[in-house]
Amino acid sequence: MAPKISLTRYLVEQQRADGTIPSQLRLLLEVVARACKSISLSVNKGALGGVLGTAGSENVQGEVQKKLDIIANDVLIEANEWGGHLAAMASEEMEGIHVIPNRYPQGEFLLLFDPLDGSSNIDVNVSIGTIFSVLRKPEGTGVSEQDFLQAGAKQVAAGYCVYGPQTTLVLTVGAGVAMFTLDREQGSFVLTQENVQIPQDTKEFAINMSNMRHWDAPVRRYIDECLEGTEGVRGKDFNMRWIASMVADVHRILTRGGVFMYPWDKREPEKPGKLRLMYEANPMSWLVEQAGGAASNGRQRILDIPPSKLHERVSVILGSKNEVERLVGYHQATGV
Ligand code: AHG
Ligand code: MN
Ligand code: MN
Repeated sequence: MAPKISLTRYLVEQQRADGTIPSQLRLLLEVVARACKSISLSVNKGALGGVLGTAGSENVQGEVQKKLDIIANDVLIEANEWGGHLAAMASEEMEGIHVIPNRYPQGEFLLLFDPLDGSSNIDVNVSIGTIFSVLRKPEGTGVSEQDFLQAGAKQVAAGYCVYGPQTTLVLTVGAGVAMFTLDREQGSFVLTQENVQIPQDTKEFAINMSNMRHWDAPVRRYIDECLEGTEGVRGKDFNMRWIASMVADVHRILTRGGVFMYPWDKREPEKPGKLRLMYEANPMSWLVEQAGGAASNGRQRILDIPPSKLHERVSVILGSKNEVERLVGYHQATGV
């Protein structure tokens, strides 16, 4: 039987093979993985650990914080503060950036995260996760929010950990996508899939259909055509899934293909979308592209969008390449 490859061994071998992982980045990824292991334990305890329910506070986006949003945020901050690999961190749950305190050495990387994705699913025991993105700090002394405002194409690592029936860490450092399953007896992440590939075509879409009346024409057209099935222009029946945890929906797409959309809609017309560019859309878009899929806001590749603020929102269409391209084509055709 082939030996199990731990995340540590995978990272060491990647570092040796092509030098895409400098040692500080390797340490960073190990620390993020350790934090995810700790979050996974809290998630698993559920009501027994007193981690369910709301915390009684709101984040900068005006969303009610769940206890686990705060627990996961604290775990990630504490784990990553002292290792010397980071200059600063940013999170969905913190308005400003968190600069590494002076008592610790400062490193050359910036870490962004959505500590707990899918908060509405925590209390109902449905898959949730952590999403992260790593950037290099630009040259110069000190660190500011401006340093974080880099397009997704500049990421040096990105990934997520999904806390589902299994806890799975999914990672890219720009050399394809690898998946690691948490072995609870060993306490380590073990490589379970390499070179993940998303099929170019699909018969499965993911969108919150309850917002249909608020969508723009191109998205309506696409979904209408899917719903027409074999009787319509697509000539095939489609299936629908919507987990309401982006991590779980993207994990399904990386595993068996599909298209995921959280488009702009008329409920809050001044906002480009619901999902956040820097710590949700960018890391997921890079993973999807690294697995042969595509990611767009309908008009532009997500990874090319220059961010103007930390908590910027974006319209998201990602997954199987041919479906994303079709949706982009529908946007071009209507000029929206
Ligand atoms: P978060 O829990 O980090 O705020 O993110 C939730 C996001 C995303 O994971 C999911 O796809 C979407 O919100 C679900 O939104 P709806 O409840 O509007 O379907
Ligand atoms: Mn989220
Ligand atoms: Mn979140």
